[in-house]
Amino acid sequence: LSSFPSYMNLLPAVQTCNITNLPENYFLKYYLYHALTWPQLSFVAVVRSRTSKNGTRQVDYDYPKVVGYVLAKMEEEPSDGVAHGHITSLSVMRTHRRLGIAERLMRMSQRAMAESHRAHYVSLHVRVSNTAALRLYRDTLGFEVEKIESKYYADDEDAYAMRHDLTPLW
Ligand code: ACO
Repeated sequence: LSSFPSYMNLLPAVQTCNITNLPENYFLKYYLYHALTWPQLSFVAVVRSRTSKNGTRQVDYDYPKVVGYVLAKMEEEPSDGVAHGHITSLSVMRTHRRLGIAERLMRMSQRAMAESHRAHYVSLHVRVSNTAALRLYRDTLGFEVEKIESKYYADDEDAYAMRHDLTPLW
């Protein structure tokens, strides 16, 4: 797992991972904005594969493949006046699920929010039907539902607005 600045060249692959796994998609410049503004908060999970090409000579490539990411930021104008982080997007490729990758990505981002930005809490939105993500946030990471936001998503599905206290990490 690495923070974004060292993987700037992988942002298009992060974008592909997002498009593959979620209906909420963003322009590449939005990933760049996160990476440049809050470089400590977003992380990618990569696996390194070796492949060889047969030609006149054998060539070995050691290329990283993005299998997950967390895209995170600090809320720029918090309505409650309290410094807090926000998870913009999280996903892990199907081939690499239930290995603890999302939990690690989330914990790394949360720690960086607390240590680098003195974030009081972290917030996020999740679809009410997304049982896997809900289990992760509520049961594994200890998030609580703050409220339900009606028709939050473009297809009119409701969102749980969730948050988790980060002050124990200060
Ligand atoms: N069903 C039930 N519980 C689950 C599931 C599942 N399918 N997946 C994860 N969990 C819970 C479990 O408690 C799990 O612990 P366990 O494996 O010891 O039982 C815990 O979460 C940690 O699981 P991880 O292995 O860390 O999760 P994973 O790497 O598989 O990623 C994720 C979970 C991100 C939800 C993945 O399924 C995914 O990418 N889904 C599609 C995209 C998505 O829904 N992203 C979140 C949208 S909300 C947002 O972006 C703010």
